[in-house]
Amino acid sequence: MFAARIHEYGEPSVITIDRVPIPEPGPGEVLVKVAATSFNPSEVGFRRGFMPVTFPHTLGWDVAGTADEPVIALAAGAAAGYTVVPEDHLVKAPKAIPLEHAAAIPVAGLTAWQAVFEHARVRPGERVLIVGAGGGVGMFAVQLAKHAGATVVATASPRSAAAVRALGADEVVDHTREPLPDGNDVVLNLAPAPPPILGERVVTITHPAEGATHFVARNDPGHLAELVGLVDAGLVRVDITETHTLRDLPDIHARAESGEIRGKIIIKGLE
Ligand SMILES: NC(=O)c1ccc[n+]([C@@H]2O[C@H](COP(=O)([O-])OP(=O)(O)OC[C@H]3O[C@@H](n4cnc5c(N)ncnc54)[C@H](OP(=O)(O)O)[C@@H]3O)[C@@H](O)[C@H]2O)c1
Repeated sequence: MFAARIHEYGEPSVITIDRVPIPEPGPGEVLVKVAATSFNPSEVGFRRGFMPVTFPHTLGWDVAGTADEPVIALAAGAAAGYTVVPEDHLVKAPKAIPLEHAAAIPVAGLTAWQAVFEHARVRPGERVLIVGAGGGVGMFAVQLAKHAGATVVATASPRSAAAVRALGADEVVDHTREPLPDGNDVVLNLAPAPPPILGERVVTITHPAEGATHFVARNDPGHLAELVGLVDAGLVRVDITETHTLRDLPDIHARAESGEIRGKIIIKGLE
C-alpha cells in the first residue's frame, strides 16, 4: 500500500509517498481499508516538529474507510491505504453523505462538539460569538451552537462569509474590517490567534489566555456517533471545499502555511 510519511521534520518536501506493507492489527484492533482522510492544520505542527513524533510517521488523523462495514474514526496513520484502529474507536459512518466526505468529521467535529457542549455548555437563547467560523472546526461549531438553540455571531473574512451564512450563522462579521461585537454570553476562539475578546465564558482551542478555557480535543467515539446521527438526520451538513490524493499533501501543507486554503479538504488514498 502507499502511505504519506515523514522521516524527518522540515518543509512540506519532507512528506514522501512510500510503498509499505499493509499493517497487521494487534489484539483488539481492526484493519480498516481507508477511503479517505482529511487535512487538519495540526499536521503542519507535527511535520515541523512542534509536537514530537516517532519516525517514520504516517500522517493523517481522520479515518473514513471500510472494515466489516463503512466506518469512521479518529486514529493515527490515516494517510495510507490501510490503517489499524482500536475496535472500540470505530463508529459507523453516516449513510447520508459519501464515505470519503465523512473523513471531514472526526477531528474537526469532535473538537467543535466538545467546545460547544462540554466546555462552553451553550444553552438555548444564548448569544455565541464564534471566531474563526470559516474553518473546518468552525463549520461544525456554527451548526452545533445553532442546534443547541443559540444565536450565532460568526467571524469570517470575505472568502468564507457566504459559506458561514449558509451554515446558519445569524450574523457574520468580517474580522479583517469590523470590530467584534460585545454582549456575547459565550466566545469560542477557533482562530490561530489569541482570543480577541475576554470575558466569563471564553473557550479557546488554539492560543491559551488568562481566564479562558483552553482544551485539546479527546477521542470520544460516543460524541462521534452523536455527530453521525446529526449528519444522518440532516441537522449537520458536511461541506467539502477540495478533494485531492496523497500525492498532493506537500502542496496542501505549503498552501495551508501561507493561509491559502479554507474549510475541509478530503485526501484520498492511492491504489
Ligand atoms: N485544541 C484542539 O484540540 C484543536 C483541534 C482541532 C484544531 N485545532 C486548531 O484550531 C484551529 C482551527 O482549526 P481548523 O481545522 O478549523 O482550521 P482552518 O480550517 O484552517 O480554519 C481556521 C480559520 O480561522 C480563520 N482565521 C485566521 N486568522 C484569523 C483571525 N486572526 N481572526 C479570526 N479568524 C481567523 C480563517 O477564517 P477565514 O476563512 O474567515 O479567513 C480560517 O478559515 C487551528 O489552529 C487548529 O490547529 C485545535
